[in-house]
Amino acid sequence: HPAREPQSGPNTISVIAHRGASEDAPEHTLAAYRKAIEDGADALECDVRLTADGHLVCVHDWRVNRVSNGKGAVSALELSDLAALDFGSWKDTRGAKGSGESPEWDPGERALLGDRTAPLEDRTSVLTLERLLELVADAGRRVELAIETKHPTRWAGQVEERLLELLHRFGLATPPRGESSAVRVMSFSARSLHRVNFGAPDIPTVYLMQFLSPRYRDGRLPTGTWIAGPSIRILRNHPEYVARAQRAGHQVHVWTVDSATDVELCERLGVDAVITNRPRQVLSQLGRN
Ligand code: G3P
Ligand code: CA
Repeated sequence: HPAREPQSGPNTISVIAHRGASEDAPEHTLAAYRKAIEDGADALECDVRLTADGHLVCVHDWRVNRVSNGKGAVSALELSDLAALDFGSWKDTRGAKGSGESPEWDPGERALLGDRTAPLEDRTSVLTLERLLELVADAGRRVELAIETKHPTRWAGQVEERLLELLHRFGLATPPRGESSAVRVMSFSARSLHRVNFGAPDIPTVYLMQFLSPRYRDGRLPTGTWIAGPSIRILRNHPEYVARAQRAGHQVHVWTVDSATDVELCERLGVDAVITNRPRQVLSQLGRN
């Protein structure tokens, strides 16, 4: 499959903020995304799930337990239930949990308890995908999106349907003539990406891989997927994978790249994008701020 995305310029690695600037602010909150935009991130990553009443919300886990003061499955709760919960205060007590400890960074630099300067509501409210799209539309510069569908098989197409409806509404389903798409859809599920490709053939799809299956070792990807999304672990164990995927015509977007050593590895291997919890530090290591 030839790459349908224009390749980025030489040595330009796109920096994608994983769940926002999630080391500095609670993941998936407006505060985390505002901070990522302020830090100069090229793109924002978010996970999306459907609520019981059909809204797409930015929540990683299937349950709200880890990141809120509530309990239960996102799919069993309505948006109004989620709106009543606090999605931010966990960060004040649990610090950078889940954002990938990286001992090579100066501990003094690490905001262990997060940046508390953002308005409380931006730090603690559940974020809908719609609100995130509004934020990006108002950013005042091009900010791309990397949206990940979570557990899409369970919903038999409803996640993708709702997602495409929103992207159409925001004019993001078809890029303007001559421009590359400002949005990408990612998934560990090739089936989910197929659905997206079928409904919106101009949106690049990223096939996420935690481990490198022998099927894809040669750099090929499942039909209908455009970009390779290997974990950093794959690159550590199979550094040759990057060149293989690129030779097969695919960009390579790597997650989750937080340590200085991993950034160096990605630079050396010539990846196209890194997904990180700490966009400010990564941009600085890449000489971009
Ligand atoms: O960007 C891809 C990465 O986010 C996949 O893993 O568990 O953080 O969604 P996870
Ligand atoms: Ca994700």
